[in-house]
Amino acid sequence: MAGLIPKTFIDELLTRADIVEVIDARVPLKKAGKDYKACCPFHEEKTPSFTVSPDKQFYHCFGCGAHGTAIGFLMEYEHMGFPEAVEELAGRLGLTVPREGGVAGAAAKEHGGAELLEIMQDAARFYRDQLREPPGRSAVDYLKARGVTGEIAAEFGLGFAPDGWDHLVRALGKDDAARERLAHAGLAVKKEGGGFYDRFRNRVMFPIHDYRGRIVGFGGRVLGKEEPKYLNSPETPLFHKGRELYGLFRAREAIKREGRVLVVEGYMDVVALAQHGVDNAVATLGTATTHDHLERIFRFTQDIVFCFDGDRAGREAAWRALETALPALREGRQVSFLFLPEGEDPDTLVRKEGAEAFRARLRQAAPLPDYLFQTLAGQVDLGRLDGRARLVELARPLLSNVSHGVLRQMLLDRLAELSRVDPGKLAALMSAGGAATENRPGAPGRAGAGPKEPPSMVRLAIAMVLQHPELAAKVTDRSTFVDQELPGMPLFLAVLDLLQGSPGLNTAAVIEHFRGTEHEAPLAKLAVWQHPALAQDVMAEFQGVLGQLHRSAIKMQTERLLHKQRVQGSLTPEEKVELARLLAEKARHQPVSDRD
Ligand code: GTP
Ligand code: MN
Repeated sequence: MAGLIPKTFIDELLTRADIVEVIDARVPLKKAGKDYKACCPFHEEKTPSFTVSPDKQFYHCFGCGAHGTAIGFLMEYEHMGFPEAVEELAGRLGLTVPREGGVAGAAAKEHGGAELLEIMQDAARFYRDQLREPPGRSAVDYLKARGVTGEIAAEFGLGFAPDGWDHLVRALGKDDAARERLAHAGLAVKKEGGGFYDRFRNRVMFPIHDYRGRIVGFGGRVLGKEEPKYLNSPETPLFHKGRELYGLFRAREAIKREGRVLVVEGYMDVVALAQHGVDNAVATLGTATTHDHLERIFRFTQDIVFCFDGDRAGREAAWRALETALPALREGRQVSFLFLPEGEDPDTLVRKEGAEAFRARLRQAAPLPDYLFQTLAGQVDLGRLDGRARLVELARPLLSNVSHGVLRQMLLDRLAELSRVDPGKLAALMSAGGAATENRPGAPGRAGAGPKEPPSMVRLAIAMVLQHPELAAKVTDRSTFVDQELPGMPLFLAVLDLLQGSPGLNTAAVIEHFRGTEHEAPLAKLAVWQHPALAQDVMAEFQGVLGQLHRSAIKMQTERLLHKQRVQGSLTPEEKVELARLLAEKARHQPVSDRD
């Protein structure tokens, strides 16, 4: 919504919030030893393997590997974005989320988000009430003529902005401050010479709800043929066209129930489909589908069907949606495309042929890979060698946007088949061109810690301070064990820095610090690692681990100097002193029996 949330606030939030309370309110938990358990909400199971640790403020499912902090849980379970989850937790604790810098941050502070939300609600009520006034008659007639029932109009909160320059301004803009707020909410426009006028005039009004049901914007349609046909709220601290989807809040239950969402182009399409019982449709707001849209939708379901008009504009929009969807594809996510007969949109079609026929069309939607290759194949002559070569060239930039995995492999296999290029050679061709996604972070998902996983001793050290943050205070002299070249050491030091800089952080707060970095997944794994050394006398074990790190640091440094001596024939005087010191150190740490 605005500005960055300071990390210190996240720390405070995670030390004050109780993950057990947060989860128990949604998934009832049972005490089991010092932890709590339940059947995992993220996969089907009969015996509970979903575990919540009050000490670590962390949850983990031993069945499916789902894991996270209280923030992470809200993101997964409630389909919230990070800032939303933070707001939610803070709200429960009565805290206000501070924002760092940024113009938007300042603006949001000036007219608090809560205040703007209230104005939007008041405006929606005003527009709704106008439908019952005499000037609203024209809008009621218009809606009736389009087949919209009063019931569905009420359900979507449809309203009417009367003709004239200041109906809303007069109704809600009692004083200058109130009028400024209306302008800030995008409902009024400030005139250059002073004064305000209504942005929406003589239009049917569609309130736009965010995913939690709060009104964040409006769309207004003319009753006749004037231009522009639709007018949307401008971008405001509350409203971002590229993020919101019309109808999502109302559709969320149906989307979950049906396991899929239908993305259409128009407000009226969503309304008409809902009126006919197709409740899982949402619309973009006159913009192309964005990455944010897709991520928002994928939090609700893994199965998206895009529905486009069959005309040229519709096909172009579909292709743009495909290009946006490619990088968001992962195993399990499905995207399909449905094209309607020319001249029809979901609104006209569902009214003409009914919900069943429309659902039947949905079942015929083309899976993304089919649509992709059909479209490309239509642009070349597959009967010719140079045509097939062209197909590979056309497909290359598209497929390079798909994360490595089964899906990408299957797309490549299909391309190999169509182009009659040997799959092995094709793979080589592909990586020669655009290996853009080779290092895409986080692509393999939850469990994979990747090849850069630190070796066991450093890993154990990290797990220890992560699971027992109080240990960090015991580390006084780092020079004894630090060897920067030991894989994993920089992460261990980063965690130590964090904990020593902010004593009192818990496991969850540490993990949140690394959200979105390459360390997030390994840390989450280490947070629940059940290593025997973590079971009993952790303090003593930790000293032991530091001792071992110390010895391997000496060993590595010694070897580096000896290697240099061998290769270059000599060392600088300082290096010689250092080598002597290291060798003495090493001798001191050898077990007594080895010394003689
Ligand atoms: P009607 O059925 O004629 O009410 O419209 P529709 O919902 O079928 O819309 P159409 O297919 O013409 O356009 C699809 C969507 O694009 C609309 O719901 C709007 O969100 C958006 N849109 C259409 N025309 C305009 C316009 O003139 N300005 C803006 N900003 N958006 C528009
Ligand atoms: Mn239409």
